[in-house]
Amino acid sequence: MKKTKIGLIGYGEIGRAHAAALAQITESELTAIADPSQAAIKAAESSGTKAIADYRELLADPEIEAVVIATPDHLHGEPAIAAAAAGKHILLEKPIAPTIEQSLKIRQAADEAGVKLMIGHTLRFFPEYQFAKERAASGDLGRLVSVFARRTNIITQSRRIQGRISVLGFLGVHDFDVLRWVVGAEPVRIFCENATSVTHGYDVEDETFTTIRFDNGVVACLHCGWFVPENHPSGFDFKLDITGDKGIVNLDFANAVTTLHGTGGTKQPLLTPALVNENRAFVTALRQDASVPVSADDGMAAVAMVNAAEQSARTGKPVDLDADAWR
Ligand SMILES: NC(=O)c1ccc[n+]([C@@H]2O[C@H](COP(=O)([O-])OP(=O)(O)OC[C@H]3O[C@@H](n4cnc5c(N)ncnc54)[C@H](O)[C@@H]3O)[C@@H](O)[C@H]2O)c1
Repeated sequence: MKKTKIGLIGYGEIGRAHAAALAQITESELTAIADPSQAAIKAAESSGTKAIADYRELLADPEIEAVVIATPDHLHGEPAIAAAAAGKHILLEKPIAPTIEQSLKIRQAADEAGVKLMIGHTLRFFPEYQFAKERAASGDLGRLVSVFARRTNIITQSRRIQGRISVLGFLGVHDFDVLRWVVGAEPVRIFCENATSVTHGYDVEDETFTTIRFDNGVVACLHCGWFVPENHPSGFDFKLDITGDKGIVNLDFANAVTTLHGTGGTKQPLLTPALVNENRAFVTALRQDASVPVSADDGMAAVAMVNAAEQSARTGKPVDLDADAWR
């Protein structure tokens, strides 16, 4: 069997998790890693994979068919557009880019080059979220009425990210994507209020409350932040409650799902199986020449929701959305 050769651009926290996930997929092979950080290069080399500082060298390798891009949120555009120009298929970490303008440029580059572009909205690859989506779509819950999501994460995340992106851009974008996917409709109005519950020295909010109206009448609410103290028993609180007129589904990650206890004393839902599923879905789409399961349009919709929520929080007014902006 000829393996699909993959390059990885960005070997930080999630880049390393992608490398571990790719190692579990027999149809693909991680052949090179690019990261300008000396520490990252050393870590990549010790994993036995070729490591280089400049991603352009990786893109020049004709053997590499596709790349996974896991650079910081505000640094997706340059490598993604260069990868498309080099004819490589792309699995790009969320958010596609912090703004719709940058996202459009990335989508256009992929379209013009005729390469596949998948956005890494990992929640769609957790079995628990897939169960919730299937129950909502099956009609078991009756007519959908409302959805509540919570993603409050440990304060060390906000310290690690150091204000390079907002909490909605980093965390909320996951749930905005899931809400749109589960509800199966487009968002039409968003209202958001922010709070700074914990002072951490960076110029971004740390707690947000967003309500969303969808074009099928469903109303949703996301409580999102990164203020949970380090001594909190689970270190995070992730939830999804879907209410229909015949039943409800409740996901509760803080209390019920498999967790991994880290050396830092915190625990996180086990991300690796979802990342394996995500990378496998990407590799399968390449090998079968099929559509990727999370499109650039999906990524742009989630970014439009983040941008609208932030605009609403700034102005104190609801913001209307038009799906033509991402279709
Ligand atoms: N899907 C998920 O569950 C999940 C979880 C965490 C982060 N993310 C996303 O993954 C991306 C990376 O986040 P992170 O937390 O791993 O960041 P990080 O800061 O831990 O790692 C980023 C890495 O990219 C490298 N880098 C910077 N510029 C580069 C370039 N031009 N070429 C190659 N490498 C470069 C940095 O040196 C660093 O090693 C972000 O978009 C983030 O939102 C997704």
